Amino acid sequence: MKPDKYRLETDAEKIKTEREREKIKTERDFEEDSGFELLKRVITESTGFNCEQYKEAHFRRRVNVRVRATGSESYEEYLKLLRKSSIEHEYLIKALTINVSEFFRNPETFEVIEKEVVPFLIKSRSDSLVKSIRIWSAGCATGEEVYSLAILFHRALGKDLDKYRISIIGTDIDTISLEKARKGIYPENVLKNIDASTREKYFVKKGETYQVLDNLRSIIRFKRHDMISESCIDHFDLIICRNVMIYFKKEIQEQLQLNFHRALNKKGFFVIGKAETLLGTASNRFKPYNARERLYLKEN
Ligand SMILES: C[S@@+](CC[C@H](N)C(=O)[O-])C[C@H]1O[C@@H](n2cnc3c(N)ncnc32)[C@H](O)[C@@H]1O
Repeated sequence: MKPDKYRLETDAEKIKTEREREKIKTERDFEEDSGFELLKRVITESTGFNCEQYKEAHFRRRVNVRVRATGSESYEEYLKLLRKSSIEHEYLIKALTINVSEFFRNPETFEVIEKEVVPFLIKSRSDSLVKSIRIWSAGCATGEEVYSLAILFHRALGKDLDKYRISIIGTDIDTISLEKARKGIYPENVLKNIDASTREKYFVKKGETYQVLDNLRSIIRFKRHDMISESCIDHFDLIICRNVMIYFKKEIQEQLQLNFHRALNKKGFFVIGKAETLLGTASNRFKPYNARERLYLKEN
């Protein structure tokens, strides 16, 4: 008789082995998932970051970035670390949120805002006693979108800026990004859509970086705000929320779009990202203003 190691597996043995493998795999998945579920709960409780609202695959990918970066071998191990380290909370939030932005991102969209939306808003307030125009950049990351809008109003109003009460609020869930936004210091590559004369007028070059000048800052405010779990701020004439909702589950996107609709004044504008769409009831509430550039109007 051949020794055991040369013996071929019978079909029945193969099936048994397959089943065992399957069982072990399922148990491992279950263990990973129970660790993951617990981790989600702890993240929500300790950081206020509402994990359930994010698309599962996106969320898991982002968490895994930190699990790997900290050398943790399992979600449980990472959880232990997270419970001990407050700095890891910050890093985790940073990993969960994608903060890339640039000045005048999608320049064609900003062209419509500059040529049509800004003049419309300015004109509509020209006869009012208090010429107030309120703008909200929701999910503003490191502030480029906010400063871009400020440049447009500054450019359009020139010396008349003081006659108007322009207020642009930039909000984000990520405090590290907001800190950068407040500092207003940027590497050259995020200014690639800004021509030389605009750079000169609104920025000062510091070594390899550009810092926003004070003439823009007076109309800008940055604030931490979680658009999912905190109530909406309101009475805006323009709300821009681009490249944020795309990471959320569809029902959350729709709810947010309805919230933004409520937060707008009559004849207020709403701008979303080029890869985003209005969903469900929200798509009936807004009137397309420039569908290609994802600009919508709240008629009444
Ligand atoms: C890709 S950036 C978009 C920046 C800018 N709007 C743009 O289009 O260039 C997405 C931002 O959304 C923020 N964000 C994610 N979830 C959020 C939430 N629940 N509330 C507020 N901001 C959130 C992230 O922190 C990140 O800074």
